Amino acid sequence: MCVCELEAPKGENPFMLDRIVIESHADIQAIQAVCDYVYIDVKFQKDHTGAIPTRSTEARKQLSFARSFEQTAVTFQRVGNLIKTVLDDIRFGNQFNTEAVKQAVAECVDQVLEHPETMLLLTQLKDQDQYTAQHCMNVCILAILLGRELKYSVEDLNKIGFCGLMHDVGKMKVPLEILNKPGKLDKFELDIMRNHTVYGRNVLMSARGAFPGAVDVAHNHHEQLNGGGYPRGLDKSALSDFTKMVAVVDTYDAMTSDRVYQHGQPHLIALGTLVKGMSQRYEAHYVTHFINCIGFYPQGNAVELSSGEIGIVVEQNKADRLKPKILIVKDSQRNDIEPRLLDLAKPVVDPQGNRYAVKQVVRAKDYQLDLNEYYRDGLFVKDYAIVGA
Ligand SMILES: [Fe+2]
Repeated sequence: MCVCELEAPKGENPFMLDRIVIESHADIQAIQAVCDYVYIDVKFQKDHTGAIPTRSTEARKQLSFARSFEQTAVTFQRVGNLIKTVLDDIRFGNQFNTEAVKQAVAECVDQVLEHPETMLLLTQLKDQDQYTAQHCMNVCILAILLGRELKYSVEDLNKIGFCGLMHDVGKMKVPLEILNKPGKLDKFELDIMRNHTVYGRNVLMSARGAFPGAVDVAHNHHEQLNGGGYPRGLDKSALSDFTKMVAVVDTYDAMTSDRVYQHGQPHLIALGTLVKGMSQRYEAHYVTHFINCIGFYPQGNAVELSSGEIGIVVEQNKADRLKPKILIVKDSQRNDIEPRLLDLAKPVVDPQGNRYAVKQVVRAKDYQLDLNEYYRDGLFVKDYAIVGA
């Protein structure tokens, strides 16, 4: 069966996704997470039938992003260090270096334009201990990715990147015992926490050379289209495009990250939350484009395969978003194995003779998978044996 178009709730804002071939229950679950209705292409016929047998092979291939990984990771690390310095400057009341921030954002824009897949993967390396700095980095990169999807000019990508990087700087004026409190915040603490929006506006207003639109974003990124947000309860008509874009990617990254008080949600749950909030909280146009650019199985997500083996999504397939490349790292008994690269777009069969498919997206931690370990140990830049080659 082939899905040729997805329809958002209430019949508005159709998703602009490529054709999707449904081959497993997990494929249906992925689509159900983000929409209620689909259009089926009844004339579609698969261009290949049957499956080829899996055989052991010496064929090895680098992941396409691996070639650029080290250079991109260096940029990511450098900007991460810079944002930590900027946040420290703000916490201690010092003037931060606006030009250095702009230069860092420009490097992120260059890397996103050249290596979008690698930059997306790097946003999945969540570090709970450095949450605020990493969240700012991730929102910067995801906002640039969204702007790229919307075909923004390089100049505008630099502006949206700056807004994303600086959207939460006001949190540096929130006392650490509130910012890092493991339990639920009481009313008084919640008011202070919510005031990070006002603090952020003040910090950016007094920063010489800051992009003026970033003041708006820092102040309003928790407002909602229906006026139900904070700090002022503004509605859609008062919110800038950049504010509405940052609100979408900010919600996604916050939901999928581990915090001191909650485990991160799986990717599809976060997308489902954005879709449910379309038109009420989030601009539908930006939600659909964000889903279009991040896909159903973004790099860095752990999945269980139909064979019971566990793998990590390492590369997307733009032609068919339900058929990514997966690095299989555990066998069906959950034992570590020499990683092998599986391309789901190819009709490869598992050890039981069935065609490989994703069974479900799982939490990496539940399977003792640490993506940071793969990053630190250089495992993304290795050559891997290919399943079924
Ligand atoms: Fe915020």
